[in-house]
Amino acid sequence: MTRIYAFVNQKGGVGKTTTAISLAAYFAALGQRVALVDLDPQANATSCLGIDKRTVERGTYEVLTGNLRPSSVLLQNERLGLSLMPASPNLTGAELELVGEIGREMRLRQALEELAPAFDYLLIDSPPSLGLLTLNALVAAASGVIIPVQCEYLALEGLSQLTQTIARVRSAYHPGLIVRGLVMTMFDGRANLAAQVVAEVRSHFPGRVFASIIPRSVRLAEAPSHGLPISSYAPSSPGGLAYCALAEEILRGDGVPLPAPSAAALHPTGTVDHA
Ligand SMILES: Nc1ncnc2c1ncn2[C@@H]1O[C@H](COP(=O)(O)OP(=O)(O)O)[C@@H](O)[C@H]1O
Ligand SMILES: [Mg+2]
Repeated sequence: MTRIYAFVNQKGGVGKTTTAISLAAYFAALGQRVALVDLDPQANATSCLGIDKRTVERGTYEVLTGNLRPSSVLLQNERLGLSLMPASPNLTGAELELVGEIGREMRLRQALEELAPAFDYLLIDSPPSLGLLTLNALVAAASGVIIPVQCEYLALEGLSQLTQTIARVRSAYHPGLIVRGLVMTMFDGRANLAAQVVAEVRSHFPGRVFASIIPRSVRLAEAPSHGLPISSYAPSSPGGLAYCALAEEILRGDGVPLPAPSAAALHPTGTVDHA
């Protein structure tokens, strides 16, 4: 069974791209066949995997407009063992161009249904808005939405708008749409505020906040400039360990058997990196 998750939050800078890339890399390391779909015109997921977005001529845009088959635009990252549907600069115009088209909100879902047989996980990184691209992500998210939430003041602001949007998409296009979970990101253990924010989000979304909390970690901020996910750049850093734990938590929740020994094999002991 193929799982399709969309990483959505209309706020920018909350960790959508970092979470999508880190989970894609750890799922692949844990034996899953994974494709990461870059649906953000800023193409950060594409860049963070070391691809110059200006050179991308075949990507998500060409798939959404129906000009290319989804399998024909996938780039293989042999080292990580995952596939990427890159965002090309043309994606910037997609929202406007698709507005008058029939079935415009179904484009990504149709494309991913075509890819599904070849993958265990399809992960969609979406832009910081609730426009047509994010609507495509929500309609395509067959297994649910994963919402990264930054541990900061006013974290809950915006989440009610997002949950209303999800409810509207559920009734109009996708009756099975669920929130798979909320991921608390950029947690600063030294600040009382961060713990209060986690408690507050947990009380608003009981049972739906993942137990694995992602700390603020310098290594996570550095990894993109090396074109690497945290699983390759600094697996034993706090951010690497946390995303590995989150990946295992999600796989376990999905009923996917984990290879044994699991986490320990990915980051040899004795080399914990505190940055
Ligand atoms: N846990 C973290 N610790 C430190 N920096 C982070 C962390 N998560 C993300 N970042 C950095 O914060 C910025 C915003 O994250 P990003 O994943 O791009 O957010 P979004 O996709 O929601 O806009 C990026 O520069 C990223 O490298
Ligand atoms: Mg992003």
